[in-house]
Amino acid sequence: MRKHTLFIIILLAIISSCSTGEKKYRIGVSQCSDDIWRDKQNTELKMAAYFHDNVDLKFAAAYDSDERQIQQIDSLVNEGIDLLIVAPNQIATISPAIDRTFEKGIPVIVFERKTNSRKYTAYMGADNYEMGKIMGEYIATRLQGKGKLMEVMGLKGSSPSIERHNGFRDALKDYPQLEVIATLQGDWTEPTAYKQVKEWNLKHADTNVDLVFGMNDRSAIGARKAFRETPKSLPLFCGIDGLPGENGGIQQVRDSLLEASYIYPTHGDQLLQLALDILDGKPYTKETSLVSALVTRDNARVLQLESEEVTRLSKNVEQLHLTADSYLQQLASQRLFTLFSIAFIILLLMLAFAFYLYNRQKKRILSERQKLEREQLNFYTQVSHELRTPLTLIEGPLTQLAETEDLQNASKETTNMLAIVRRNTHQLTQLINKMLEVQVGGIQEASNNITNDSFVTKEISTESAPNILETGQPQDTSVLIVDDNNDIREYLRTILQEKYQVFEAEDGQKGLVLAQEQVPDIIISDVMMPVMNGLEFCQNIKMNEITSHIPVILLTARALNSHQIEGYKSGADAYITKPFQPDLLLARIGNLLRNRHLLKDLWGTSSNAPKKEDKTATTENTPLSSEGTRENAFISRFKKVVEERMTDSELSVETIGSELGLSRVQLYRKVKALTGSSPVDLLRKARLNKAQQLLQTTDLSVSEIAYQVGFTSPSYFTKCYKDEYGKVPGESRK
Ligand code: FRU
Repeated sequence: MRKHTLFIIILLAIISSCSTGEKKYRIGVSQCSDDIWRDKQNTELKMAAYFHDNVDLKFAAAYDSDERQIQQIDSLVNEGIDLLIVAPNQIATISPAIDRTFEKGIPVIVFERKTNSRKYTAYMGADNYEMGKIMGEYIATRLQGKGKLMEVMGLKGSSPSIERHNGFRDALKDYPQLEVIATLQGDWTEPTAYKQVKEWNLKHADTNVDLVFGMNDRSAIGARKAFRETPKSLPLFCGIDGLPGENGGIQQVRDSLLEASYIYPTHGDQLLQLALDILDGKPYTKETSLVSALVTRDNARVLQLESEEVTRLSKNVEQLHLTADSYLQQLASQRLFTLFSIAFIILLLMLAFAFYLYNRQKKRILSERQKLEREQLNFYTQVSHELRTPLTLIEGPLTQLAETEDLQNASKETTNMLAIVRRNTHQLTQLINKMLEVQVGGIQEASNNITNDSFVTKEISTESAPNILETGQPQDTSVLIVDDNNDIREYLRTILQEKYQVFEAEDGQKGLVLAQEQVPDIIISDVMMPVMNGLEFCQNIKMNEITSHIPVILLTARALNSHQIEGYKSGADAYITKPFQPDLLLARIGNLLRNRHLLKDLWGTSSNAPKKEDKTATTENTPLSSEGTRENAFISRFKKVVEERMTDSELSVETIGSELGLSRVQLYRKVKALTGSSPVDLLRKARLNKAQQLLQTTDLSVSEIAYQVGFTSPSYFTKCYKDEYGKVPGESRK
């Protein structure tokens, strides 16, 4: 919503900055008639308006009808004009409409014709009285003060007609021999003048007229036409208007159709300027009298040339205006296009920005959520660890306690109570599991990965056959326990010490030192520990040549699948979660020890001889991991040292160890763990194996062979050979 408002504001700002900001003036022009004089004036008004962007002209022509003009004025006002320019048809008739307009607060310019009201803003027009008077004087001069005159009036109630008549008559007063023999009522039109004159001529067939004064040129021409239809001698004709152009008064004077005319000024440009001054609130002249001049044969030609020039210039201006107009239109559409482009770009930018904000917010929320989830997960893992450790230490010892002889024979109450405690301990374990499951389940995949019954992994539960233990482990098998919790270490020791030699360390770093020193057969390690955690510890064990072969069991409260994956990635061989069943732990240890990849027949000795230790280890399910290759490499190095040095009767395990960079104990444990045999046994086997080859391929005596493979006594060699192959050396000869 806020964005939309912002967008609209920007758009409006752009639009307003692009517009001129000027108000458009609507000006109504009410013309009383429609003729060439009015046309000329309207054209001048339009041309003047071209120079002002803010003018809108509305024209109306009443065709000499009062009624129509009143109607037109009213409707112009209703349309909402800002100013009215009016040439009233007659003095009295149009005044009320003009008054109404003026009273509404609309400025009114009366031009050329007058009203009998003072309710107008300004008047502009030529002095018609003066005009009539000048024409009268001209005629008097032309006729040398003597002659018969005819007068054809304009429309009866129109001011120019009255005023011209008055002026004309006043001029004649000085010329008593000039006689107006007829005053005919015209209406400014040619047909009416023609008709009136024709009728008069019919009535006065014998009366000659020297000069006809038409109140305008059209009336004079109408009168001329009528006279031409009589046998009378043609009088002179004078008119008023003196319009330029074809069939205008100037041409008619030049062509001798008229004797004289008087330029009746139109001055549309001046009229428009007056209107704009009024509308703009500028000072203006209330009554403007337009001056003008007589057109006679003497100046008609010049005036015509001038008027033609003016017409030509006007046309140029018009053309210029049209060109400018089309440019302006192009500009307007370009401006509109630019405007929309800008608006569109702004919109796009805003959208892009909104999208960017949205994404940033989304990312922030996501990372916050992930952080929270991680924190929650850590918290629950911690809690889980804290709860599972004591539970292990309650549940395990309790199980063992219940199985002790003392309690087997205890009273029923004691057994019952013990059962209650065990049941409730178990239930507590389950409750904790469920609780953690619900919490963690919301965070990660926990709900799928944690079993309902126990946190012990599937791997463990499928191999819970305790009878495997019956096969037993050699007495010298050792286990290293790495855990920071004393009780857990103690508890584990209790469980393990019967079968294994137990070493203990309280963190990964100490565990690492101990593991290298003692090279235990198996390691059980916690994960969350100070100094060095179980994962790092496990990695170090697997990377070090001395310890790389040792199976590592991670025993931890970190029960999620992701935790287990982490554990296996660090190189762990098994992952058991707390609380655990002691039996299951023992079973797992047993399995791992039995499943060690034992490299038997190191020297390809025949297998018909009985083996000292019956290792039931299967190798096929031991993956050939990188550790496997690492162990093979170690054994190869061991074999190489033995094979190269075995003829040396002094060769000792220490020497082999130091060649390999191991102590005696380390070498012993590593070799024993990998092959099931001690280095001494393997050295003897290597010597006997070589002796067997020599017996079969050479003629050397038994004694010679015995010395050659590093035995110091041939009889001891014979004994060992018999022990190994079940026959005396001589029997091996082919
Ligand atoms: C034009 C006209 C002119 C005349 C004037 C008088 O309409 O008839 O010929 O001079 O009006 O108002």
